[in-house]
Amino acid sequence: MAEETVEYRLYQDLAGWWPLISPPEEYAEEAAFAAGVFGLASGPVRDVLDLGSGGGCNASHLKTRFALTLVDLSQAMLDVSQRLNPDCPHVLGDMRTIRLGRTFDAVFVHDAVDYMTSEGDLRQVMVTAFAHCRPGGVAVFIPDHITETFEAGTGCGGDDDADGRGARFLEWSWDPDPGDTWTLTDYVYMLRDLGGPVQVVHETHRLGLFGRDTWLGLLADAGFEPQAIAEETSEDRQPRELFIGRRPA
Ligand SMILES: C[S@@+](CC[C@H](N)C(=O)[O-])C[C@H]1O[C@@H](n2cnc3c(N)ncnc32)[C@H](O)[C@@H]1O
Repeated sequence: MAEETVEYRLYQDLAGWWPLISPPEEYAEEAAFAAGVFGLASGPVRDVLDLGSGGGCNASHLKTRFALTLVDLSQAMLDVSQRLNPDCPHVLGDMRTIRLGRTFDAVFVHDAVDYMTSEGDLRQVMVTAFAHCRPGGVAVFIPDHITETFEAGTGCGGDDDADGRGARFLEWSWDPDPGDTWTLTDYVYMLRDLGGPVQVVHETHRLGLFGRDTWLGLLADAGFEPQAIAEETSEDRQPRELFIGRRPA
């Protein structure tokens, strides 16, 4: 991924469709689980940094319990999130290099971490997380997949809004080379504006895939006490594995 830019249309000119492609309501359970994991920090958790906050769907739930600061590399996605979360500070920045000059009780990196496709990129994000985590605080990473559990597959979704706009998508994931650190997901978006024809867009995203030992080793290298825990979910999908880093007090 190029520095200081997001190359995918989903996060650029198509960002306005995000709330219909991935509606905030769908994040309620995951956000509640993550909020519970923040309890692994020693001391109270109030200030939370969300790196790769996207459309702010997780934040829309987490902000009811925590003070969220949202960082994303795409101004278009920050604009979407700003409409959903006008009460949260939004900052344009790269999760690999941003330095806000302050610490938080917890650092949260949800599926945006999938866009780290090399070990070097992933290492940089962990160093960023450590730099923003107070002693005794916790960093929580939630990749969609790890090497041990990745399976090629398909998914679909989408929604309509009250005005009659609608979006649907199909995603198709596979791993061209199990020997490297990334997979591909082909997306087809079908986008229907008010009363208009359906626009069909295809694009391919490259997503990182790392083994459990790599995750735990990189967290330790960054200075964290590392831990892996299995997600509990009622959704009809494979539970994710969460990687937790506790910054020693
Ligand atoms: C799947 S979306 C995240 C959705 C988010 N979980 C939510 O609650 O809406 C992925 C996001 O990662 C962001 N992203 C990708 N690479 C990034 C980077 N290096 N630094 C910060 N954000 C990044 C993209 O701009 C995009 O908004």
